[in-house]
Amino acid sequence: MGKENILVCIAWPYANADIHQGNVTGSHLPGDIYARFHRLRGNNVVMVSGSDSHGTPVTIKAGELGKPVREVFEMYHARFLELFKRLGISYDLYTHTDTENHHQVAQDVFSNLLEHEFLYREKSLQMYSESAEKFLPDRFVEGTCPNCGYTSARGDQCDNCNTLFTSATELINPRSKLDDSELTERETEHFFIDLPALAENGLEDWLYKDKEHWRKHALALPRSWVKEGLIGRAITRDMDWGIAIPESGYALPNHEQKVMYVWFEAVIGYLSATIEWAKNSGDPDAWRQFWYQPARTLYFVGKDNIPFHTVIWPAELLGLSGLYHDDPTAKLNLPYDVPANAFMNMEGLKVSGSRNWSVPMLEALDRHDPDPLRYFLTAAMPETRDSDWSWDGYVERNNSELVANWGNLVNRVLKMTRRYFEGIVPDVGDDLRAQDTELLAEIDAGFDAVAEQYDGCNFRAALQEVLRLSTRVNQYLEEQSPWTTAKTDLDATAKTLFTALQAISGLKVLFAPLLPFTSQRLHEMLGEEGQLFGESIVREFSESTRAHEALTYDDTNASGCWERVAVPAGRTLPKPQALFKKLDGSVIEDELSRLNRPSA
Ligand code: MF3
Ligand code: ZN
Repeated sequence: MGKENILVCIAWPYANADIHQGNVTGSHLPGDIYARFHRLRGNNVVMVSGSDSHGTPVTIKAGELGKPVREVFEMYHARFLELFKRLGISYDLYTHTDTENHHQVAQDVFSNLLEHEFLYREKSLQMYSESAEKFLPDRFVEGTCPNCGYTSARGDQCDNCNTLFTSATELINPRSKLDDSELTERETEHFFIDLPALAENGLEDWLYKDKEHWRKHALALPRSWVKEGLIGRAITRDMDWGIAIPESGYALPNHEQKVMYVWFEAVIGYLSATIEWAKNSGDPDAWRQFWYQPARTLYFVGKDNIPFHTVIWPAELLGLSGLYHDDPTAKLNLPYDVPANAFMNMEGLKVSGSRNWSVPMLEALDRHDPDPLRYFLTAAMPETRDSDWSWDGYVERNNSELVANWGNLVNRVLKMTRRYFEGIVPDVGDDLRAQDTELLAEIDAGFDAVAEQYDGCNFRAALQEVLRLSTRVNQYLEEQSPWTTAKTDLDATAKTLFTALQAISGLKVLFAPLLPFTSQRLHEMLGEEGQLFGESIVREFSESTRAHEALTYDDTNASGCWERVAVPAGRTLPKPQALFKKLDGSVIEDELSRLNRPSA
């Protein structure tokens, strides 16, 4: 099988708050597991994302902190880089939306869509604050949802019933979030994206073609939207923080005081980041493999991001023709899948980072190793419905699954090899017993079964399947009881340990996308020299106006592959060390005491 081009796209987090467990399990971690799996398979993988620096959420935070917006987003961006590096979220490029490159690509996309007449200008009524003397961005507007009656609906979306509003003027009793004043409607002129035309130009067909592998909830919403009939959406805003609208001969009144709507330009980041990655890689055309050649492009996002990745972004892609291409009719690849996740709650209640009811991941890494965190976040990943983080559950899974099952298996096998064979892989010739070859055949079959789960984005199932195989090897050890045969039949002990070493060599790879750090340690304890994966490096890149920091991935020394590599007889193994630590109940108390439980 030839190499496949796989582009892993992960939702761009707003750089206005620290990243918590819900963000990680919702998008960054599943994307990373998928990317690592395909790298082991030998595919051509690029994984991109970046900090969403524009939009009102970041300006609100800057207002609260009394600091310049740029300073605030750069502070969070730097923390995101550190988090991803330490948690092993292996971005080929994690950049941000305030780079020159992104501004340029976003403007080129805008101009291309305008040229193809998928953008039009229209006057509309927008919420205006008399007290602030400006148009208010949708998120600064609060009011009653016309659909469900929820009284704290935002101007862009109702968090209670998930209705997206075309305009904040749909809200009943609109108020300003800034000072709670009543708002009035004023006329302003904006660019709109012609979604009805794009629905006819391929969006609707695409939503019904080859979607068997899609999660139900990721399809239900865009299909119902299209069925009800799409309407044009404003893609510019009266704001000063964002990307300028190219003039393209159609300046609006007050053109220079308007910017592109954050959602319209943030999704363009997937393309601009691939282009930036290619420039950094020394082959500026390398991005074309993912956008203009056959490739699978997947978008790992939370459920609140579904509309933008299944309607708006595909519509933008469909509207573009010949962007950065000699052939004026060339089309960019549409999403292959949008494996959206639901939300992860915190100890049974809704997460709130700002009110200290979450697991701020960067802080958690000061007290916990990355792999146990990744493990729990995968085991409880909200793939089909909302799930829950509980510290009790974390400790329980760490102790009973990582420590008692997988870690203990590795520990026993390596320690016995030392005790009975001085740490040298026993030489058993070719004559393994039936029970030995059967065990290894099961592990080898696991490579297909587990691959299918990783490839299908069923990460919980992948984890369960690898854990089942680990249990199976533990049972094999119990049955063969090498510590008993050591006294009577050292040859049997040799066969058992030789076989078990081969089995854990296989399990190490099966677990590697989930547990990259401990799999690498085991790799070394099995006497291997190379790296299973590449290395994440924070680098500074300079553009003509300023520099920015980004996370990159160097895979020059990576040699891991999706197969059970034999541990050869006669090899001397280094001294083993435990992969995981048992946690006691005080960890739960300590962690709970750091939280601020919301009152009911
Ligand atoms: N920053 C937005 C959010 O966190 C959008 C993320 S996805 C993007 O919800 F592609 F649009 F950036
Ligand atoms: Zn509602």
